[in-house]
Amino acid sequence: MLFAFLIISTASGGWLYPEQIHLSWTENEGEMRATWVTYLPVSSVISFRSMLCLDIPNPTEWIYVQGSSKKFQAGDKISNIEYIHTGVMTGLRSECKYEYSVGDGLFWSDLNVFSGRTPDYQAPWDTRGFEIIVLGDWGTGPNGQYTRHIINQEAKFRDFDAVLHVGDMAYDLDDNNGKVGDQWLRIVQPISANYAYMTLPGNHEKDDNFTHYKQRFNMPLNDANQGTGYFYSFDYGPAHFVMFDTEVFFYYSNDTQQTQLNWLIQDLQKANQNRDLRPWLILLSHHPLYCSVNWEIPLLQSNKDCGVDTIKLQNDLEEIFYSNAVDIYFQAHVHNYERESAIYHNKTVPSEYDGPHIHIGPKAPIYITNGNAGNRDGHNDPTSPTPQEWAQYWSNDYGYGRLKIFNDTHLYYEQYSAPLVDTIDYVWVIKTAKRYN
Ligand SMILES: *[C@@H]1O[C@H](CO)[C@@H](O)[C@H](O)[C@H]1NC(C)=O
Ligand SMILES: *[C@@H]1O[C@H](CO)[C@@H](O)[C@H](O)[C@H]1NC(C)=O
Ligand SMILES: *[C@@H]1O[C@H](CO)[C@@H](O)[C@H](O)[C@H]1NC(C)=O
Ligand SMILES: *[C@@H]1O[C@H](CO)[C@@H](O)[C@H](O)[C@H]1NC(C)=O
Ligand SMILES: [Fe+2]
Repeated sequence: MLFAFLIISTASGGWLYPEQIHLSWTENEGEMRATWVTYLPVSSVISFRSMLCLDIPNPTEWIYVQGSSKKFQAGDKISNIEYIHTGVMTGLRSECKYEYSVGDGLFWSDLNVFSGRTPDYQAPWDTRGFEIIVLGDWGTGPNGQYTRHIINQEAKFRDFDAVLHVGDMAYDLDDNNGKVGDQWLRIVQPISANYAYMTLPGNHEKDDNFTHYKQRFNMPLNDANQGTGYFYSFDYGPAHFVMFDTEVFFYYSNDTQQTQLNWLIQDLQKANQNRDLRPWLILLSHHPLYCSVNWEIPLLQSNKDCGVDTIKLQNDLEEIFYSNAVDIYFQAHVHNYERESAIYHNKTVPSEYDGPHIHIGPKAPIYITNGNAGNRDGHNDPTSPTPQEWAQYWSNDYGYGRLKIFNDTHLYYEQYSAPLVDTIDYVWVIKTAKRYN
């Protein structure tokens, strides 16, 4: 009976076959975590090997990792039960590429490939430059397909190191009894199975207390986040990245906010002690601190997002960002692209030199809104026809950003328009001196 059931299920929908494969970096150097889903309770195995190293040209032996799994009730019905598997590949070397497959020992996924370069937490320090994709507000619908098509192509050429998703995914992970989340994770798999795909929560993840976000993603652990993946940080090349959760300021109690703020302050202080080695401090979170208000259409969501909510977050966070000399804050949520100058207390802070596409020696955080990978609702937050004085460039085009940090002094960011298949904006940020303690 059971045997027949398995055969039929496999033939009809691949209930044993691993899907929704996504990678993430962990809190340890030289590790890559894989997470995937099956619809039957099978065992969790990863096999991996180095396939291309600078010093070892031939593949090594396969290494098998026993992972673990949990039962996840993704919706109301018994048919919505899924099994989320995870396991960690260790001992990775940054000069190697790895190939791997996930499965139950019998049914394996196709092979995927990732780079052994991971966050760098210990000597010898790896402060080489890198290139990372930054995007936000990305769903399953037609608006997101342009972005997906282009990043899929770039993924094949291994043109970047990782993806940072600044909240709001799938629209929503839990919709239609979790089927929307399943579908989105299948759609992004060509990217997420081959690169670390690092996430933080947005407001669209909030249903059932962010349950789907917590269960489906495995982000680096720290003492404060209790395994939730809401907030964490990592060092990569010459940068310290902080993935932060602004949603707690809207949906959670003062206690929860304070826990995260305490963690943030400690994390930034530690980053500043280490800033000679890693001069760049990049913070990312879903809700904006600054964006131009669109007062012309009275009922627009952006009047709240950029008018009321930004003021709340400025009160809660701006002083911390400023006093710790955060270089760039990437924000999303508003469905457009807006690059802003260095700002403090709602005013442009002049750098040593400012041009239309360059800031040399900035003296306050630069803000970039990037919530336009392609959300469900279209442009419900069109760019303001009357941008604020600190707005440098703005666009409604669906797309994403690319952050390149070359070295201790040179950072380059460009915004890519998916429909135009071209770069529409860029900025250089150049450090001239220390701006921290
Ligand atoms: C949601 O999470 C908060 C904070 O952890 C907790 O106080 C609350 O009881 C949770 N609510 C539900 C419905 O689980
Ligand atoms: C939480 O409440 C305490 C006491 O009223 C206050 O000092 C603190 O600033 C509050 N924290 C936040 C994040 O609002
Ligand atoms: C911020 O400055 C802009 C002008 O750039 C102004 O329109 C807006 O009202 C200011 N907001 C606050 C909260 O002061
Ligand atoms: C840093 O990178 C920039 C851009 O590639 C380059 O022009 C500059 O010379 C580099 N600086 C150092 C110290 O390598
Ligand atoms: Fe949002």
